[in-house]
Amino acid sequence: MSKLAVLVSGTGSILEAMVKDGLPIEVVLADRHCRGLEIAESAGIPRVLLWRSFSAVFDREAYTRRSVEMLQCRGVYRIAMAGYMTVFTQAMFDAFGGRITNTHPSLLPAFKGDHAVRDALHYGVKVTGCTIHVATIELDAGPILAQEPVRVLKGDTVDTLHERIKQVERVLYPTTIRELLATDTPP
Ligand code: GRF
Repeated sequence: MSKLAVLVSGTGSILEAMVKDGLPIEVVLADRHCRGLEIAESAGIPRVLLWRSFSAVFDREAYTRRSVEMLQCRGVYRIAMAGYMTVFTQAMFDAFGGRITNTHPSLLPAFKGDHAVRDALHYGVKVTGCTIHVATIELDAGPILAQEPVRVLKGDTVDTLHERIKQVERVLYPTTIRELLATDTPP
C-alpha cells in the first residue's frame, strides 16, 4: 500500500472525514497551527508542522524543498491536499508529480482561486459544487478526477454554501483517494 500524506492549513474537517473513512494516513503536514493538527493528534497519526512565514521574506523555494525532504524521509508516495493553503514551487511536482491531489470547492474550471465559494455566490450561479483533481504547478488546473454538483439555495451565505459543499467533499474525496491507493504501484 502506498504511503499517504494529508496536507492541511485549516479546520481539517475533510481530514477528519478521511480518518473516519479509515484511510491509511502516514503523516499529516501543516503549514501553520490549525485544527487539522489536533485531529491528527487525536487519531494518533504522526503530524508535522513546517511553519511558514507570512511576511514578504517568505522563501517559497526553500519551504518547498523542506516539505519535499520531510515527505520523502517518511517514504510518502501519495499526497492529498485538504484545505492546504501554501503554493509549492516546481520542486514539489518534480518529486511527486501526478501523485498530488487537491479538492476545490467549485466545479472547475469555474471559480478557481482562494475565494471560489464567494465568487460563485456573487456571480449568481444556481449550481456549484466540488472538484477533486490532480494538483499541478498551475493552480486549480490539473486533470479532473471527480466532481459533484451542489445547488445554491435562496438565502445562502458563503458559510452555508461552503458547508454544504464540504459535506459532499467529505464523501467524494476519501472515496477518490481510496480508489487511487488501490491502483498505486509504489517502488
Ligand atoms: C475545502 O472546501 C476545500 O475544497 C478547500 O478548503 C476547504 C477545506 O476544509 N480547499 P476543511 O479545512 O477540511 O474543513
